[in-house]
Amino acid sequence: MNLLGTGLSGLVGSRIVELLSSEFHFEDLSLDTGVDITDKDIVNERIVASNAPWLIHFAAKTDVEGAEKERIFGEKSSAWRVNVTATRHIVEACKRANKRLLYISTDYVFDGTKDVYREDDIPNPQGWYAVTKYEGEKLVASLGEYGLIIRIANPYRAIFPAKPDFVAKIRTMLEEGRSMFSPDDQIFVPTFIDDIARAVKKLIVEYASGVYHVVGSTALTPYEAATLIARTFGFDESRIIATSFQKYFHGRAPRPFRAALKNDKISKFGVRMSTFAEGLAEVKKQL
Ligand SMILES: NC(=O)c1ccc[n+]([C@@H]2O[C@H](COP(=O)([O-])OP(=O)(O)OC[C@H]3O[C@@H](n4cnc5c(N)ncnc54)[C@H](OP(=O)(O)O)[C@@H]3O)[C@@H](O)[C@H]2O)c1
Repeated sequence: MNLLGTGLSGLVGSRIVELLSSEFHFEDLSLDTGVDITDKDIVNERIVASNAPWLIHFAAKTDVEGAEKERIFGEKSSAWRVNVTATRHIVEACKRANKRLLYISTDYVFDGTKDVYREDDIPNPQGWYAVTKYEGEKLVASLGEYGLIIRIANPYRAIFPAKPDFVAKIRTMLEEGRSMFSPDDQIFVPTFIDDIARAVKKLIVEYASGVYHVVGSTALTPYEAATLIARTFGFDESRIIATSFQKYFHGRAPRPFRAALKNDKISKFGVRMSTFAEGLAEVKKQL
């Protein structure tokens, strides 16, 4: 099957290509192949010309702090232009060309005030990045049966030096013998990117639609996560110093305090998402 894709050079997208390229042929819509997704005409031209049944849309402006600084520019901000306006171009072209669209969203669409979040919980994004990603979700939802939204959280993989994920950053810090602060009251669900690839494959071949939480099976605090990373890779756990969410993120973009997304729906669909310990063990094996 041919798959159109955006963001295939990124942290998540490039691993999806690595793992699925023996089963799918990817048509890359990227700056490298002459497609700036904020350019409506080129997006439409390339989507309409393709015979791929699906477009997997990974491209985004993902710099959370950078996006927040641009909030005052509203719809002129680069986060809005890439995450909303370009998504609108893609949705419109998919409608025109009768294509299904898989859009990747984030746990940040939730405000973090509930204990757990399921797919039918109503988002209430706080930061500007999150606002723009949720606007993208709403556009994709307008495709009905042809729209698929997967929400991921804190993705990590074994090797991607171009944009180290949080596991890689913590490993580097501990390897260099540095100490680090880590919130012991916040909750998140780190997600192994190889599992996201398996979920993407399953959802695509089954022609799924709607919203799925494609997140890891362990909800824990960043402090617990950092401690587990230290233990798994044989670093000194005492270098991780507990702090509070409020102190750690003071002056930074708003993000959810408790983002314990549940993955029952994708599990019932047949994709088992790793626990954080399992994901780390696999990362260690792959390094
Ligand atoms: N990383 C996270 O922590 C996280 C968490 C939750 C959800 N997500 C979502 O998961 C998806 C993938 O994230 P990621 O971390 O893999 O992203 P990333 O590494 O920051 O990569 C972003 C991708 O978007 C492409 N892109 C940006 N602007 C573009 C434009 N105007 N035209 C064409 N391509 C453009 C980039 O292409 P170039 O390389 O050519 O610039 C790159 O391939 C995003 O939708 C993000 O919102 C990420």
